[in-house]
Amino acid sequence: MQFAQRLQPLQSNVFADMDRAKAVALANGRHLIDLSLGSSDLPAEAHVIEAIAHSLHDPSTHGYLLFNGTRAFRQAVAHWYEQKFGIRVNPETEVLPLIGSQEGTAHLPLALLNPGDFALLLDPGYPSHAGGVHLASGQIYPMPLLAENGFLPVFADIPTPVLAQSRMMVLSYPHNPTAAIAPLSFFQEAVAFCQEHNIVLVHDFPYVDLVFTENGKESSSIPLPPTPCPLSSSLVPSILQADPDKSVSIEFFTLSKSYNMGGFRIGYAIGNAELIHALRQVKAAVDFNQYRGILNGAIAALTGPQASVTSAVNTFRQRRDTFITALHRIGWHVPTPNATMYIWAKLPSSWSQNSMEFCTQLVKQTGVAASPGAGFGKFGEGYVRFALVHEPSVLETAVERIAEFL
Ligand SMILES: Cc1ncc(COP(=O)(O)O)c(C=O)c1O
Repeated sequence: MQFAQRLQPLQSNVFADMDRAKAVALANGRHLIDLSLGSSDLPAEAHVIEAIAHSLHDPSTHGYLLFNGTRAFRQAVAHWYEQKFGIRVNPETEVLPLIGSQEGTAHLPLALLNPGDFALLLDPGYPSHAGGVHLASGQIYPMPLLAENGFLPVFADIPTPVLAQSRMMVLSYPHNPTAAIAPLSFFQEAVAFCQEHNIVLVHDFPYVDLVFTENGKESSSIPLPPTPCPLSSSLVPSILQADPDKSVSIEFFTLSKSYNMGGFRIGYAIGNAELIHALRQVKAAVDFNQYRGILNGAIAALTGPQASVTSAVNTFRQRRDTFITALHRIGWHVPTPNATMYIWAKLPSSWSQNSMEFCTQLVKQTGVAASPGAGFGKFGEGYVRFALVHEPSVLETAVERIAEFL
């Protein structure tokens, strides 16, 4: 059989290699502590489950939903966004439901790139951003993220010939895997740059709520608010705050992280009406939208009590503190991240250029699974990502095993 060339770049996948390494460790009787996947171990809220369960018993939810989802969902999203960021969005033309943010960011390049066009991507970055560009037969220009630049790209370093053929730039802060945060001034610079060069600006924003600092200062554990409580304003900027006219920007959100709904596959895009329309056109050829009952669950999450969001932030902050303290205790000095559910750790010098080997040996010898930095791009080499998806006591055990390994 002959397969399309665009499949070639999708062949190598370090996460598939890590899956194999995990399976070998399990087969050898290791007790696995899996810190390699950013899939929250916390449950979805009861009122969300109830809304979905209620929908299941309503046959009117069982048919195709078609392309725009429901007005109630789009209005809930527009209301949620306005409360968080103080910017109005038109629920009819500027909001689109997605089967997760990954689906949307991976499909968008099909609407923007002709074969050979460039997409400017963060390196390291989330793998589906690159995957979508490959599926659209585009080219990737990796914008290096270096610790000395706060893991922000330097736009002035992009070569002019690349810029001339660039159609889109993808940013994503708070950032997976480095956990870096971007200030509004950086987004303003990005918007001006994309306007000047006629480039679409994409912002993937799954960690909008998983933030531990306020105005650059660590915020202490937040007391749980009374229920029901209003949505709090965001501690990190949205790209549309830098582009309130929505001239070049589109932003992607998910319920996977804030509301622990990763398996439910529900997200949404907000932004420039032409971009929303173009993405809807691509999706119309591919899917008939998410099940209406899941949309109803998402409405319950976005408009209902928000105590679980605060509780998740406190949980991940506590896990972060436990893990960082334990790493420091064993002599592995890693900066404390201000957001996300990840620790981005520079490897000890003896492993510095072989993150894949480090992770393979670590899981084989100790059962602790982490993600090799190289899996997120060339500039991720030399690092390893730990996802804090277990209780503090399990994280302590993981660090004890890492200490023995090192
Ligand atoms: C940057 C980024 N985008 C997208 C996703 C996936 O989001 P969803 O579950 O909505 O597809 C993740 C999940 O880890 C992520 O880190």
